[in-house]
Amino acid sequence: GESAKPGAALIAWYDANRRDLPWRARPGESADPYAVWLSEIMLQQTTVATVKGYYAKFLARWPSLEALAAAPQDEVLAQWAGLGYYARARNLHTCARAVVADFGGRFPREEEALRLLPGVGPYTAAAIAAIAFNEPAVAVDGNVERVVARLHAIDAPPRAVKPLIREKAAALATPSRAGDFVQALMELGAVICVPRAPDCAACPLAPFCAARRESAQEKYPVREAK
Ligand code: ADE
Repeated sequence: GESAKPGAALIAWYDANRRDLPWRARPGESADPYAVWLSEIMLQQTTVATVKGYYAKFLARWPSLEALAAAPQDEVLAQWAGLGYYARARNLHTCARAVVADFGGRFPREEEALRLLPGVGPYTAAAIAAIAFNEPAVAVDGNVERVVARLHAIDAPPRAVKPLIREKAAALATPSRAGDFVQALMELGAVICVPRAPDCAACPLAPFCAARRESAQEKYPVREAK
């Protein structure tokens, strides 16, 4: 049935429709921070379909953070070949060594501490905190910006109203399920609330969506003036 609240509708939709991706914990299980971190770094600028194969090979070769930290950097870069953006691979390796040296091989769980690690920006820090540790962090990527901009028919480019987007995203959260929540929002943007011709008939937020009420889904997110 249709939930009365958008946040509840979103999480119910995710429970019924989530893709089974290799870095996702099974329902009720906790995620491996190393796996979450590795997947989030790979997913920067690379599609889920491409990442899957690299992710599996990487984990098979270096099953733990300690193993990766002990690897020679040229081997890590060679294994990364094809994913592009080699700064990501160098940062990945530097980060593994930093977590071993500074945190005894365990990722910190707070968003602020994660943010200080090499290659971990605001989005990635929030994603790891939420997905690996169920911290109430809100990870805002382009998919999330689009969903929120449409839901509230936000009349400014997302970059100009970041705090508003974050606040509106946070308002949808199910606090006890921070990791599932951020993945639900990303997933909705990736498979339903896509840039062109969104599948509103399948969207759990459609009854609440201001852009849809205006029949102006593709107007949002508003583009930057050139
Ligand atoms: N893109 C970025 N993070 C993701 C995740 N955890 N699952 C699916 N797609 C993603």
